[in-house]
Amino acid sequence: MPDLSKLPPDFLWGVATAAYQIEGAVDADGRTPSIWDTWSAIPGNVDNGDTGAVACDHYHRWPEDLALLRRLGVDAYRFSVAWPRVLPDGVGRVNAAGLDFYDRLVDRLLADGIRPFVTLYHWDLPQALQDRGGWPERSTAEAFADYAAVVAARLGDRVTDWNTVNEPLCVSWIGHLEGRMAPGERDLTRAVRASHHTLLGHGLATQAVRANAARPASIGLVLNLSPIEPATDRPEDVAAARRMDGHVNRWWLDPVHGRGYPADMVATYGVEPPVQGDDLAVIATPTDFLGVNYYFRQLVVDDPAGPAPYARQVPVPGSRETAMGWEMYPAGLEQLLVAVSEEYRPEKIIVTESGSAWTDEVTAEGTVEDKERTDHLEQHLAACAAAVGRGVPLAGYFVWSLLDNFEWAYGYDKRFGLVHVDYATQRRTVKASGHRYAELIRAHQRLAGAAGAAASVA
Ligand code: IFM
Repeated sequence: MPDLSKLPPDFLWGVATAAYQIEGAVDADGRTPSIWDTWSAIPGNVDNGDTGAVACDHYHRWPEDLALLRRLGVDAYRFSVAWPRVLPDGVGRVNAAGLDFYDRLVDRLLADGIRPFVTLYHWDLPQALQDRGGWPERSTAEAFADYAAVVAARLGDRVTDWNTVNEPLCVSWIGHLEGRMAPGERDLTRAVRASHHTLLGHGLATQAVRANAARPASIGLVLNLSPIEPATDRPEDVAAARRMDGHVNRWWLDPVHGRGYPADMVATYGVEPPVQGDDLAVIATPTDFLGVNYYFRQLVVDDPAGPAPYARQVPVPGSRETAMGWEMYPAGLEQLLVAVSEEYRPEKIIVTESGSAWTDEVTAEGTVEDKERTDHLEQHLAACAAAVGRGVPLAGYFVWSLLDNFEWAYGYDKRFGLVHVDYATQRRTVKASGHRYAELIRAHQRLAGAAGAAASVA
């Protein structure tokens, strides 16, 4: 049981989703294809040939899904806006029907007392922009800022919490270097270019939201970070761990904190990011919080023949692994939060994603007894409480995810939800972990209420 009394009284309890993973309705109301529609349609790219065409049908079932948020009792809901719904050509013409969907969602969330956290980019680049070169091109960062301005102008009279780009590492390294995600490229130069333009897009979008939202905006970038350790004390593995730390963590954290790109990594890649003019200042535009997504640590060995950064993750002997094959390592979250907070001193950190996939089954009684996910949740919240106890300015925690959903190249087999989705019927079932999360939220609210009452008496 996490020590909830360590968490601040105004700690935000949330759940997260992303448009392409839940919405479906890929042809509805003027939406055009994204790179994920294109990529998932190619046989062999996604397990079982799955695509996001229907997903959780959230585009049509959103009222039912918001009712689930009320049942869980969350304070906040992090969702993403699908760029190709809003700007079908990526730039220019605004599709009113696409924006209307998010407008309704925001209104209902606010009516329910739930704070919307809007992610502007969670990987569904309009295919029209990919056709013009995608993230390796500077024009995509500029188009992203224009799109951010459109969304902020429409929703920013009510939405106050914004995430710019979700996990630029996945966009750049997995999408353009490893080829395991859309657009499926394997080219280090293009990957480095994509990394610079996702960061530049983040900085430009931060400025665009501030300029166009009617209400003061709290904005942050979302990074997926991992503590990195050498698998042995061989000097080659120690050096490999340093490179992996540069690849996974410092390449993103350094520039957004005004330090520019780490020189050791520019040398490792042998590719200069295409910095122009005041790009580094734009990337370092001050934000209001840092979003941290945490899933696993990495134990690393030297891999001179492999792709950049010439270091490879290896399994941790004897570890407990989720259905993704990821080590369950809650101590890594505390370690990461403390390390980031000490090194970069962000004003505020929010865990914007934490969660786990397991092979869930619905019992004959209609329940889902996902003890592993419940353990995972409790242990990661305990890690958050411990990090707060060590001085980390942690303001909230979002579980990935509200619903089982389209887990990118793994399709629908990997279930991360607090709520089970039967894809044949679209029936939702709150899992035991979801019930436990609701209890923890209520318990913390009681503690916070009691502390508030005591303070007002004193
Ligand atoms: O499902 C993804 C999400 O889209 C981004 N962060 C990691 C999750 C689990 O892999």
